[in-house]
Amino acid sequence: MEERGYKLFVPEEEEPGKDSEVFYNKEMLVNRDLSEVAGEVFKEQIKNEEFRVCDPLSGSGIRGLRYSNVATEIFLNDANPEAVKSIEKAKEANDIEAEVSNKDANVLLSQHRNFFHLIDVDPFGPFTTYLDSTCRAANHQSFIGLTATDNAAPTGSYPKTCRRRYSSEPVKNSFMHETALRIYIKEVFENFARFDKAFEPRLCFHEKHYSRIMGRVTESKKRANQNLDNIGFLSYCPQCRWRKLERLEKCENCGSSTKIAGPLWTGKIVDIRFTEKMKEKIPEDWEESSDLLDMLHSEGELLTPFYDIHELASNMKISVPKREKVLEALEKKGYPVSRTHLSPTGFRTDAPIEDIKDIIKNIPV
Ligand SMILES: C[S@@+](CC[C@H](N)C(=O)[O-])C[C@H]1O[C@@H](n2cnc3c(N)ncnc32)[C@H](O)[C@@H]1O
Repeated sequence: MEERGYKLFVPEEEEPGKDSEVFYNKEMLVNRDLSEVAGEVFKEQIKNEEFRVCDPLSGSGIRGLRYSNVATEIFLNDANPEAVKSIEKAKEANDIEAEVSNKDANVLLSQHRNFFHLIDVDPFGPFTTYLDSTCRAANHQSFIGLTATDNAAPTGSYPKTCRRRYSSEPVKNSFMHETALRIYIKEVFENFARFDKAFEPRLCFHEKHYSRIMGRVTESKKRANQNLDNIGFLSYCPQCRWRKLERLEKCENCGSSTKIAGPLWTGKIVDIRFTEKMKEKIPEDWEESSDLLDMLHSEGELLTPFYDIHELASNMKISVPKREKVLEALEKKGYPVSRTHLSPTGFRTDAPIEDIKDIIKNIPV
């Protein structure tokens, strides 16, 4: 098997999972594409000669191998001995130098304090059990990527699991995947902050069945303190659908009681200076990944949680207008707008909800 020119040694499977002999999921191609390009951009930014990359939950080895264009040393690890055999074969076949091990990921990371410039944590389920050791192993200037597939908890299907795992209250609604991203980032930020390291998001998104958090780590109490203001709450009105990244018991639009999610990250989840650089680097023929990157870049500056056109129309008891018409009308009124990667019927704007609803009402269907 091959991915982007890298040879792999894994059995073909319809549904890879925990029971796979060696895990490889082609559904994660976009995740690995964007991670590889983010690694390149970060390496350029820190201008470090040494660049040690760790893929502590490697499976086939593909994730770590894809950083070979930037890494000066690659560490590939998996607890499954069959995976380790595949990694060894892949390393040989691709003619890439790498240190391969068969340890518990937490052991490997804990043995390399402040050592790695890039750590990519890609487990089954939540990343929380690997966070502590990742914080220890991250160099004072490093880049961290974490994948989460336990979206049911922070999107509100399992609120108790969310409270237990992320010390946060979720809200189940149309923008729950955005809330989940913000809960994940909060958790990552707070864990690094305990180590006097600042985590700053560069590119966070949700796609298919997983969420991805990527950001820069700097050993800096000052930067961590500055970012503490970005930990807060989100209020949502189930009556009129108003929302705000602040803790407010009453809706500012209609006065109804709100639902409150958090604590969570209230800052930007995409850094457009970073994605601008990524856009320059991503190969044109990586279409799906490149399209997602473009979308993330276009929505990066808009902070208010996104609206869903169907949800608003149903709330207003009217037929659903064309989303593009709504965006055009909002733009004409001078509001910044964008689509969102989180929903094909979603859009972002900083316009007040009464203006959005006025515009929707006046659009002929
Ligand atoms: C989701 S898969 C990794 C997929 C891979 N990173 C990729 O991009 O294709 C998770 C991997 O973690 C390994 N694993 C599970 N628990 C582990 C642990 N405690 N330490 C190290 N590896 C572990 C599994 O054997 C599996 O290969």
